[in-house]
Amino acid sequence: MSRTTIRSIHSRYEEGVPLAMLTAYDATFARLVERGGVDMILVGDSAGDNQLGYDSTIPVTMDQAVSNTAAVVRGTEQALVIGDMPFGSYGASIERSVENATRFLKEAGAGGVKLETAPGGERTVELVERLTEIGIPVQGHIGLTPQRRHELGGAVVQGRAGPASEYADRLVQTASRLVEAGVFSLVIEATTEGVAKRVSEAVDVPTIGIGAGRVTDGQVLVVNDVLGLGEQEYSLAKRYADLDSIVETAVAEFVSDVRQGRFPDATNAYDPIDADR
Ligand code: KIV
Repeated sequence: MSRTTIRSIHSRYEEGVPLAMLTAYDATFARLVERGGVDMILVGDSAGDNQLGYDSTIPVTMDQAVSNTAAVVRGTEQALVIGDMPFGSYGASIERSVENATRFLKEAGAGGVKLETAPGGERTVELVERLTEIGIPVQGHIGLTPQRRHELGGAVVQGRAGPASEYADRLVQTASRLVEAGVFSLVIEATTEGVAKRVSEAVDVPTIGIGAGRVTDGQVLVVNDVLGLGEQEYSLAKRYADLDSIVETAVAEFVSDVRQGRFPDATNAYDPIDADR
């Protein structure tokens, strides 16, 4: 089976099929996430706090992001894999940003990149134009943009602005500019449903919400939040499993077996001898 293309994402969107996207950061989980049937896998910079042990997305480097993306591509066969451009990898100059975006496709085999855009965001819009012109599919990301946490005072919801607010107007304007520049899809993070609805109705590409309510064309979550990996729970997410406790229990049983001499037993040994312990 071949990989999902942007074109098939758009066909599903036009048919009204809600799109499902999850993050993954390595081949093992990417394989499982793909088997679960997602349309797209985002190799998010959320790796920072969900895989790499940082307390935010800010420290994630290009090398880490490209290495994670390549692992996700190796672990999958069908999903459209999107590499998330980390903080500082774009914005300094168009040339440098294009070089970095190119690495996700050339070195990692991704099908596209995602980048965050502040309201307005003229320079990012210009970058999207350049990237799409040279054949790099781009997914935009508006609303809460965690890479701007130092400017915003934390990765927090920026108020509860409604659909008639100035914030909503700016977001619709940013979304429209990004679509005009060529984004194939837009992530909308942490806005009220009214705002997400306005944006989704204003653009003709699939909007993928996280904490944006029920009105977007698809949903994305961080895989750790879905699987119960990690202690923090977020109201915008839904936990479908408790892998923390499954893993802890399995490890504790292994440790106990080793201490009690129950593992390994003869079936785990090559040419077992008569070993009485
Ligand atoms: O990095 C990430 O996981 C993301 C999603 C939350 C959309 O950007």
